[in-house]
Amino acid sequence: MAYRDLEFPENFLWGSAAAAHQTEGGNFNNWTEWEKIPSKIKDGSNSSIACDHYNRYEDDFDLAKKLGHQVHRFSIAWSRLEPEQGKWDESEIDHYRSVLQALVDRDIQPMVTLHHFTEPVWFRDLGSWLNPKSPEIFAPYCRKVAEAYSDFDIIWNTINEPMVVTTMGYVFGEFPPEEKDFGKGLTVAKHLLMAHGQAATQVRQVYDEIGREQPQIAPVISVSHFMPADSENDDDLELVDYLDELYNHVWIRGAIEGILPEPAGDGSRYPPLDNSVDFIGLNYYSRMVVSSELDFMAGDMPPKDPELERCEGLDWEVYPEGYYQVLQSFGKKYDKPIFLTENGIGTSDDEVRQRYIINHLQEVHRAIQDGVEVLGYLVWSLTDNFEWAQGFSSHFGLVEVDYETLERKPRESAYMFKGIIEQNALTEDIQEKYLLD
Ligand code: BGC
Repeated sequence: MAYRDLEFPENFLWGSAAAAHQTEGGNFNNWTEWEKIPSKIKDGSNSSIACDHYNRYEDDFDLAKKLGHQVHRFSIAWSRLEPEQGKWDESEIDHYRSVLQALVDRDIQPMVTLHHFTEPVWFRDLGSWLNPKSPEIFAPYCRKVAEAYSDFDIIWNTINEPMVVTTMGYVFGEFPPEEKDFGKGLTVAKHLLMAHGQAATQVRQVYDEIGREQPQIAPVISVSHFMPADSENDDDLELVDYLDELYNHVWIRGAIEGILPEPAGDGSRYPPLDNSVDFIGLNYYSRMVVSSELDFMAGDMPPKDPELERCEGLDWEVYPEGYYQVLQSFGKKYDKPIFLTENGIGTSDDEVRQRYIINHLQEVHRAIQDGVEVLGYLVWSLTDNFEWAQGFSSHFGLVEVDYETLERKPRESAYMFKGIIEQNALTEDIQEKYLLD
């Protein structure tokens, strides 16, 4: 196959993403408590010391720098900063100042996520996101973070993947608190939308108070490309539209339009959402094929395509074309730029990762050519890490972690990605080298 150079826009930003609970080690939150229950984590592990990133962040950022990264997305552990409701741990606030400073020292742009799946245990005990007051309970933490770090040049992410928190935790019951109740899921989605509004409002207020120019703020959503098992079956097509709307669009439309949309809300305005989305943070991993003849809510799915490569453990099908499709649909529906805040694959075969990244970037480039405004692309993840219910058995890192010694070793894909960053292009040479072997 003949390849050509695929150039990315000027000022396009490249880097990687991670999250506190998955890399830091030493956390105490709703997940660490849940992980203690036998059989919850597939490989029998728990997050424990994870990658010890809490102590090794400088070395990890040295690696990110060496690998050419321009942006690093990470999350702050709410449970560290506010170990009891209303009580702040100043030493933890200082810790993240050092983390931010370490990025700045290496000329890497920090992108900070306020909520990435985990919560303080006291918040869990108050009913977590089912509590009608949860958005207001979350707000002081957001204010504290904004006050503590507003002197840094930060791109802010409010909530990571609200629909994953909703579906995995409250509809399919595979993450804590293991609820299986669609109605509760809707309530949680609504409260997470309000929490996003509260977070953006707090950050904006703090910047206004100190007279700083407003930063860029975005929620980060997980997007799937839904496809019908039978493209001639009207019921399948209807199911695809329904799920696409419910999973991919309702929440973000609410954030952009400033309303609490049905079916989660009643369509009323929620003023904290006003001006809460500068860009859309978009995470894409895979497609989802659905059939109206199966009970989707019970988790029944059609058989997977044996021809497609899969993500280790999670079994997601590799489907780059879906990236183009979702980018097209987001580009058409919303007048907001998109930052690709996560894309990657868990695999022990780095050649699979190399192909995955290249094939997905080809689709990103195609979407950009067709008019979608994309600001940047972050690989999930810088290093291997604790992959939630999969434990340490799914390897998403550009950098391999030896969990015995905690030694880091960049994989070939990390150097390949470095080459892409340096050229700001997916060159013909890179495509030939990594796709034709
Ligand atoms: C999450 C990450 C996770 C990744 C792979 C996203 O859903 O934001 O925390 O590790 O996907 O599953």
